[in-house]
Amino acid sequence: MLGIETTCDETAAAVVVRDSDGTGRILSNVVRSQVQEHARYGGVVPEIAARAHVDLLDGIIDAAMREAAIDFAQLHGVAAAAGPGLIGGVIVGLTTAKAIALVHDTPLIAVNHLEAHALTPRLTDQIDFPYCLFLASGGHTQIVAVVGVGEYVRLGTTVDDAMGEAFDKVAKMLGLPYPGGPQVEEAARRGDAARFALPRPMQGRADANFSLSGLKTAVRNEIGRIDPLTEQDIGDLCASFQAAVLESTADRLSVGLKLFRERFGLPTALVAAGGVAANQAIRAALDNVAIAAGTKLVMPPPALCTDNGAMIAWAGAERLALGMVDGMESAPRARWLLDANVSVPEKFSNTRAGF
Ligand code: KG4
Ligand code: ZN
Repeated sequence: MLGIETTCDETAAAVVVRDSDGTGRILSNVVRSQVQEHARYGGVVPEIAARAHVDLLDGIIDAAMREAAIDFAQLHGVAAAAGPGLIGGVIVGLTTAKAIALVHDTPLIAVNHLEAHALTPRLTDQIDFPYCLFLASGGHTQIVAVVGVGEYVRLGTTVDDAMGEAFDKVAKMLGLPYPGGPQVEEAARRGDAARFALPRPMQGRADANFSLSGLKTAVRNEIGRIDPLTEQDIGDLCASFQAAVLESTADRLSVGLKLFRERFGLPTALVAAGGVAANQAIRAALDNVAIAAGTKLVMPPPALCTDNGAMIAWAGAERLALGMVDGMESAPRARWLLDANVSVPEKFSNTRAGF
């Protein structure tokens, strides 16, 4: 399966094999980050991203095919992320996949980008359904019950900013470069997390939703009070912000895991994915949350947690194995809820076909 990813600022293509026993092998995984193109704007500029995808994609696909040492005639299918994402980029990737599918007479699979994140641990760790996914990136913050291929139930989501976006905005306010997450984590190491009493958004609520914009505003208010900032102030603000995110995440996830157990039983794992999961402090907190909930934390390697083509190819292969293929009329989507058009019984039963 060839997989194509162009929903944000990574142009990526990969070739993945799914064996009949359900195990996977990555033959190639080529990712070209556009981070330099966007860095001077402090964020991803959609039009620049779309144009860069047009310029880069053919070469990236060529590199992925050559590294996998196969030709197009040997493909069993071609998968593209058809959304959600920046629409210009999605159009580029999906149209390219359609062209390859048409010319080489191979099935097209229009993959939901979030589904690809959700299924990655089955490629990397052979995890069985059902498991609980915590996805935290620049664009998404979700807790999802992964019940089967195409069967996802969103248990919690952010009501405002995505978690990575909050890290990026806090970094920007403090004059740290983009992308801000790693910078904030680094600065937090030399900071005092107890210096600023920042809010713990949504703490103690019965739902499993997140909120990050109030926390970001609280940081802005502290900056306004101190101005000008010393290096120590920056470290202390980063440490205090990260501690608030950590505590809030642990609280929200333990509620999410409780909701999961009520509906689906014990998850086989808590899976963390997305750029924010690269944060060491957050990782440690997730480990504790998983153990407290009687399960284990699984984290795909960082290169497969952040956007890549292998996850799209793998999701395509999982769908193809179940006969789920798409037609040439498949439309690119800026928005596409993971649990749209899915009906899952209130109580999960693992006797159902497909598990
Ligand atoms: O999954 P990803 O690479 O791309 C998408 O957004 O789809 O996630 C990137 C996001 C950025 O917002 C970045 O600041 C954040 O993940 N991030 C981090 C860390 N590394 C990346 N946030 C906190 N701590 C980190 N170490
Ligand atoms: Zn992503």
